Amino acid sequence: ANDVLRVDKRGIEALQYGSVKGLPDLREVIVNELLAPKGIDAGPENILITSGGLEGINLLCQVFIDPGDVILVESPTFVHCVEIFEMFQAKCISVAMDEHGMVPEDLEEKIRRFSPKVVYVIPTFHNPTGRTLSLERRMKIAELGSRYDVLILEDDPYRDIRYSGEDLKPIRAFDRTGHTVLANSFSKIFSPGSRLGYVLASERVIEKLLDAKTATNSHTSMLPQVLCAEFFKRGYYPAHHRMICDLYRERRDAMIESIDRHFPVGTKRTFPDGGLFTWAELPGDVNTTELLAEATSDPEVKVAFVAGEGFFIEGGGMGKNCMRLSFGAVPPEKIRIGAERLGRFLKKKV
Ligand SMILES: Cc1ncc(COP(=O)(O)O)c(C=O)c1O
Repeated sequence: ANDVLRVDKRGIEALQYGSVKGLPDLREVIVNELLAPKGIDAGPENILITSGGLEGINLLCQVFIDPGDVILVESPTFVHCVEIFEMFQAKCISVAMDEHGMVPEDLEEKIRRFSPKVVYVIPTFHNPTGRTLSLERRMKIAELGSRYDVLILEDDPYRDIRYSGEDLKPIRAFDRTGHTVLANSFSKIFSPGSRLGYVLASERVIEKLLDAKTATNSHTSMLPQVLCAEFFKRGYYPAHHRMICDLYRERRDAMIESIDRHFPVGTKRTFPDGGLFTWAELPGDVNTTELLAEATSDPEVKVAFVAGEGFFIEGGGMGKNCMRLSFGAVPPEKIRIGAERLGRFLKKKV
């Protein structure tokens, strides 16, 4: 940061007003280093820099959502976005998911039945389940967006932190009609506190988002944009990317091995090829919301997880035997100790 702000005199730029779309060289970085390698043919004119991925989703709602509009979401889904959608008085309706992500047959049926304005999908290393939408389904969902004239909101903040398996093109790469809007984030690959994200969309959609962005906060803070652009342009990203993937891979492996070794017989869990979460489904009639308070306060356990129920908009006890386990922020030794303690506790409960 010192180098960038003093040596290059970008400090002055960083403290000035900037353009609504975002810093030109950061938009170039996104197009050339993050999107082109994923098979996305876009120009800087298709990019809007946002204050975190979540702002992109907010702006999209500002532009497209009227009270009562239907938004289809996966079951389970990232609750934070449901909160955004509901703030705009959208009606969220869930679409079934299996181990390959959102089920296109159920999606199509619900598109026909509810005429949604938006389909919200987290295709890669899904939050909360860690699942990844298959290639065929990515193509199919892009096609459904075009055929039924529905906006596909592809929220893909974990895509670049893959530790195993084959890289898959984003849904947006299969969109021929401009119906897919990709919201992405620098939180997982650069820094969460910098609050940087971006939206990739057709120029028509970007033009609309620019009005909303101007009315909201004029543009994203310049200082993090300058630092992030320089981080990529100076070539720091490849080594950093390797480092975080190695780190998280080891943590994921420790988490998966420990769940398999210590959790009750009959537990099902996902194997995420990347991202920060795994999802466990416990056998028997347990309620993880109730277990959480006990697991965090019991001195023999002291392990936190996120109870499954809250990720389902359907209510009615869906996901009550499930939990999301995060491995991103904890070193492998601690993951092993934590999973062993939690496993011992759960065995007494199921
Ligand atoms: C699925 C999903 N979308 C969006 C976000 C928000 O990202 P950002 O920090 O860029 O606002 C997150 C963050 O955890 C997420 O899990």
